[in-house]
Amino acid sequence: LTGVPGFPLPTIHTQQAYAPDADFTAHWTRADAMQIKAHSNPSVAAGQNSLPGQLIMPDIPADFPTINPDVWVWDTWTLIDKHANQFSYNGWEVIFCLTADKNAGYGFDDRHTHARIGFFYRRAGIPADKRPANGGWIYGGHIIPEGAQEQVFAGTTYTITAEWSGSMRLLDPNSNQVSLFYTDMAFNRNAAGQDITPAQAVITQSLGQIHADFNHVWFTGFTTHTPLLRPDGVLYQNGAQNPYYNFRDPFTFEDPNHPGVNYMVFEGNTPGQRGIPNCTATDLGYRPNDPHAETLQQVLDSGAYYQKAAIGLAVAEDASLSKWKFLTPLVEANCVNDQTERPQMYIKDGKYYIFTISHRTTYAAGVDGPDGVYGFVGNGIRSDFQPMNYGSGLVLGNPTDLNTAAGTDYDANPQQNPRAFQSYSHYVMPGGLVESFIDTVENRRGGTLSPTVKVQIKSDASAVDLRYGNGGLGGYGDIPANRADVNIAGF
Ligand code: FRU
Repeated sequence: LTGVPGFPLPTIHTQQAYAPDADFTAHWTRADAMQIKAHSNPSVAAGQNSLPGQLIMPDIPADFPTINPDVWVWDTWTLIDKHANQFSYNGWEVIFCLTADKNAGYGFDDRHTHARIGFFYRRAGIPADKRPANGGWIYGGHIIPEGAQEQVFAGTTYTITAEWSGSMRLLDPNSNQVSLFYTDMAFNRNAAGQDITPAQAVITQSLGQIHADFNHVWFTGFTTHTPLLRPDGVLYQNGAQNPYYNFRDPFTFEDPNHPGVNYMVFEGNTPGQRGIPNCTATDLGYRPNDPHAETLQQVLDSGAYYQKAAIGLAVAEDASLSKWKFLTPLVEANCVNDQTERPQMYIKDGKYYIFTISHRTTYAAGVDGPDGVYGFVGNGIRSDFQPMNYGSGLVLGNPTDLNTAAGTDYDANPQQNPRAFQSYSHYVMPGGLVESFIDTVENRRGGTLSPTVKVQIKSDASAVDLRYGNGGLGGYGDIPANRADVNIAGF
């Protein structure tokens, strides 16, 4: 890496693997994240995309179709085995989405406190260009019986609950037993919507069964909800330390290097009281004598220490995946960004990739990057992870003008690229296919599935495949299974 004139060099990361339970955390440093700005064009016309084309999702047309007239849809996941293969069931593809009722009198931006995990299904094995434009998904309703998830909060004070993201494991590809891992949320809010006490976030397991016949797919179970993990304030920040803590989005997997052991990655924050200015030289990551390095004092004076994202790791302590123990975070982004959401472990060609999603507006002072997917590569599930693409971490961003203020998805900056919030909550699927939801395109709100795109992943680099689909955009909500469940007992 030779670096970009006028910018610091990225941190040296060896990709060396450590034992999963070792006390080693990789750092996505300020020196790393600075590479995004270093590769952004400072002189594009306002509102254009300033970022390298191979790392940017093609423009979603403003006349996109919607998946369903009655429910908002955002974070979406698939039915996976321990290696993240995506299964169809009895000839049906199935997806799980956070959903909220469009007809209940609240808008897309109020969805989070109303989120329920819903499911959709469609026949497997039909090419995207033979399906309806919106992907042809049939809405199946909620997964969890009304109120069942509230058992986790028995004896506590709350005013409203929600079901936030997670993952769905097919426990045995020859049976219909499935395990939902999700984030059970309880909010205690006043009439103005402000927190009286910090929200409770509990990573929770619930078991159920998938069923299908010739006409439809349905689920049973999900009546018992087992709390698995609450942030301990020691390895992961909790609500007493920071009312705005992030703790959610469990994704479970097996490491081929540790057969029979189950791990979980999740979104967290570095522990400690909010507002204590304690980032370190390691978080900055500058090389000795780099003429473009910031001093620690400059960074602390900027207030960057309010942003302290962490990608967590836990290990299962029983075969039924109902008891878990925290391990040291895999990655921390202190003084870099506050949210590394929906992390997943993606194993390809002997390399271990962590993909995660993040926002422009959760960056710390002095560092910048678009909404989208970020990636880190190492030689094991715990590694000195190297941020992908010239050391920056950026893998798949929305078209964004980094020279112009962000605005928000609900209140656009008219000078900003009208697609800077076009998509979010991306999940990288087998073969490098990436699904996500549409947030805002030219001020039109989405709440529906994006066109699938494809990224080519090689070593520490990636590029959007512009030959995939139509100029790089595949079908809306094209989320294909790469494995078929062999159990055809339902027929
Ligand atoms: C990402 C996310 C997740 C969370 C959900 C809540 O879009 O912030 O981290 O589970 O949305 O709606």
